Amino acid sequence: MSRVALVTGGSRGIGAAISIALKNAGYTVAATYAGNDEAAAKFTEETGIKTYKWSVADYDACAEGIAKVEADLGPVEVLVNNAGITRDAPFHKMSREQWQEVMDTNLSGVFNMTHPLWPGMRERKFGRVINISSINGQKGQFGQANYSAAKAGDIGFTKALAQEGARAGITVNVICPGYVATEMVMAVPEKVRESIISTIPVGRLGEPEDIARCVVFLASDDAGFITGSTITANGGQYLT
Ligand SMILES: NC(=O)c1ccc[n+]([C@@H]2O[C@H](COP(=O)([O-])OP(=O)(O)OC[C@H]3O[C@@H](n4cnc5c(N)ncnc54)[C@H](OP(=O)(O)O)[C@@H]3O)[C@@H](O)[C@H]2O)c1
Repeated sequence: MSRVALVTGGSRGIGAAISIALKNAGYTVAATYAGNDEAAAKFTEETGIKTYKWSVADYDACAEGIAKVEADLGPVEVLVNNAGITRDAPFHKMSREQWQEVMDTNLSGVFNMTHPLWPGMRERKFGRVINISSINGQKGQFGQANYSAAKAGDIGFTKALAQEGARAGITVNVICPGYVATEMVMAVPEKVRESIISTIPVGRLGEPEDIARCVVFLASDDAGFITGSTITANGGQYLT
């Protein structure tokens, strides 16, 4: 029986590449999304990967959604907390709503998804939790006090939970992507994109597959000795 992997925000961007890479590696994959039904339907049609709609910001919806996924596919053994949003503004213009939405999705979302799955992983003595943070959670970014705080929180969460999961066979790791060529990044004017690329030593943006390959490795049995780690995948743009 293949292992079941659940990827939040797994129908678009980096998450879609992760879902596909895990499927190709032999996992049974469920991908969640928040609202873009059209993209999710197209993704399922093209890949055969089941998609489920709920917001990671809502704890009860996560618990209900996870129960549905497990009833359909079996116990979730690999969780990829990838769903994330930006609500950028310089701090003096940042609204409480911009702060809260990013915290609710990018930080509490990780709690809301991991918490209902944790008892089952402990019981089965196996689990993989892989969180997708960001270069901007490591170095901070102008206009992203909310995003940088939430993404830095994901790194702290990972380090704490790794210690709790270790004896139960559960690894918890975090990946910090640099700038990746998703729709969001490709939508910025070419000049701005060029100036971003000029700050990346390898001379290119990341591809979603660059991140997906890290996830597949961390999910594998071969990565069982790696826990609490921060994998930096940013083309050398920021060295920790
Ligand atoms: N792109 C980059 O350069 C970059 C760099 C560093 C880190 N990251 C991180 O990598 C992750 C993926 O980024 P991306 O650029 O691939 O994003 P994206 O293309 O905007 O896709 C985001 C995905 O997350 C889902 N989502 C958003 N809010 C959600 C919620 N409340 N509940 C459930 N799903 C939700 C979206 O669902 P819908 O399709 O329904 O909207 C979509 O499937 C994020 O955590 C991001 O912060 C990205």
